Amino acid sequence: MKKNDYYYFLAKKKGYVSRAAFKLIQINERFYIIKRGYVVLDLGASPGGWSQVARKLVGDHGRVIAVDLNPLRIRGVEFVRGDIFSDDVVNRIRALVNEVDVIISDMAPKISGVSSWDHARSMELAGRAEEMARIFLKEGGHMVVKVFQGDMMRGFVRKLNKEFDLVKVHKPKASKPNSSETYIICKRFIRNDENGGSVGDYELKRKEEGNNKVK
Ligand SMILES: C[S@@+](CC[C@H](N)C(=O)[O-])C[C@H]1O[C@@H](n2cnc3c(N)ncnc32)[C@H](O)[C@@H]1O
Repeated sequence: MKKNDYYYFLAKKKGYVSRAAFKLIQINERFYIIKRGYVVLDLGASPGGWSQVARKLVGDHGRVIAVDLNPLRIRGVEFVRGDIFSDDVVNRIRALVNEVDVIISDMAPKISGVSSWDHARSMELAGRAEEMARIFLKEGGHMVVKVFQGDMMRGFVRKLNKEFDLVKVHKPKASKPNSSETYIICKRFIRNDENGGSVGDYELKRKEEGNNKVK
């Protein structure tokens, strides 16, 4: 309900294109994910609140690369429009950048209202964000990923725990209490053979496994 939504009005007042901006602000205040000079990959970025926040945090020497199915126009943000599951999108990101310091994913499926279905779709998107980490994230880099809570979350967190030095589940104040969304904060990516080795190794592994389909 916009009528009583404090963050909706605050976003308008501060010039953010979405109230979601405050979720990233609050996450960053607590976990120090994005710093000056960083290169940030923002997945599911439209309309662009997170990109605006990331842009401010990285400053003039950093970069923000945003990806979404829907359009986005934020000054100083590089944009790749398309489906995160497509190899074409991966290639277009790669044409812009080899590796990134941080991946933030606020990707969400179209809500069906059936919570088990929405949870499953959200886990697919979160899983894809994790794949993007294996492709693009620097050793020691960080990731923030949204999920709709449900029974598959525990296994996902367990997987992330093997790939990152620190993993925390956190719901910022700006996230509506009645929403099942929450955020998984992952710090210090550990790049090793199990989670893809180098970017080149990962591509090879994917081909060997025949896991090259475009959804
Ligand atoms: C909650 S919105 C993101 C809000 C954004 N973080 C902000 O601050 O304005 C979720 C976004 O995920 C995007 N999305 C969902 N599935 C996607 C996919 N397969 N590839 C790319 N983007 C996707 C949607 O288009 C939508 O814009």
